[in-house]
Amino acid sequence: MGTVLAVVSQKGGVGKTTTAINLASALALRGRKTLLVDVDPQGAVRHGLGLDADGSAGGLAELLSGSRELQDVVQATTLPWLRVLLAGSVSEAAEHETYSSQLAESPRLGELFERACRRGYIVVVDSPPGLGAVTRRVLAHSQHVLVPLQCEPLALQTTSQILRAVRDAAVTNPALVLDGILLTMLEEGNEVSQRVAAYVRAQLPTELLFDVAIPRTMASIDAFAAGQPVVLRAPHDPAARAYSQLAELLEPRLR
Ligand SMILES: Nc1ncnc2c1ncn2[C@@H]1O[C@H](COP(=O)(O)OP(=O)(O)OP(=O)(O)O)[C@@H](O)[C@H]1O
Ligand SMILES: [Mg+2]
Repeated sequence: MGTVLAVVSQKGGVGKTTTAINLASALALRGRKTLLVDVDPQGAVRHGLGLDADGSAGGLAELLSGSRELQDVVQATTLPWLRVLLAGSVSEAAEHETYSSQLAESPRLGELFERACRRGYIVVVDSPPGLGAVTRRVLAHSQHVLVPLQCEPLALQTTSQILRAVRDAAVTNPALVLDGILLTMLEEGNEVSQRVAAYVRAQLPTELLFDVAIPRTMASIDAFAAGQPVVLRAPHDPAARAYSQLAELLEPRLR
């Protein structure tokens, strides 16, 4: 059996998509059968993976509306063990509300995850920022959660909300486990960034925070712009190494 790991955060722009893409790729590089699912209607995964530039391939939106079948929208990637389900046509649409309410009300997301798990996939889910209906739906059908936290002033401000949301979701989904909070975009020579990381480490219970933190690197930005995971494009880059370490650490738990 596989399992579902959701990457969620109250805040936008904290590295959810970068984390989902690189963790999924790093797990696939370790030989684990992985399915990356983009439930965020912004659909950024396709940019980060350099897929479907014209938006014609379809994805989760088509699956939800019933206009396409799973086998028609799940795509292969350059990694043999990584497959991806993009957000689909919703990312071209002017409004995302219909999609979001459809996703929140339809049983299809849960069915999709179950089907993938039965086939032994680790399902890594990239979610939209915030704790809206889509994120709550994802949490209702996940077994693992990872919360990226950007190393910036006031980083902890919204953390209690996300932790509460995970706790609330676990009431009806007792299988849900918070794997941890992941510090992202930590800047080596930046005193503020280092101070934030130290403060977060002092404030949060140690078991809540991953030892590994993701540094901010130029290679990460370049890789995203080039449509490749940094773990593939620049495997020796410190951010790539950190994502590989995270995958190594998580892999035994994802069974
Ligand atoms: N380790 C890193 N080093 C440098 N830049 C990074 C790193 N991680 C993410 N970024 C950049 O930060 C920006 C936000 O990252 P990302 O899109 O992954 O965040 P997000 O949480 O998914 O955002 P949103 O809430 O909009 O979905 C992107 O431009 C990304 O390339
Ligand atoms: Mg994103």
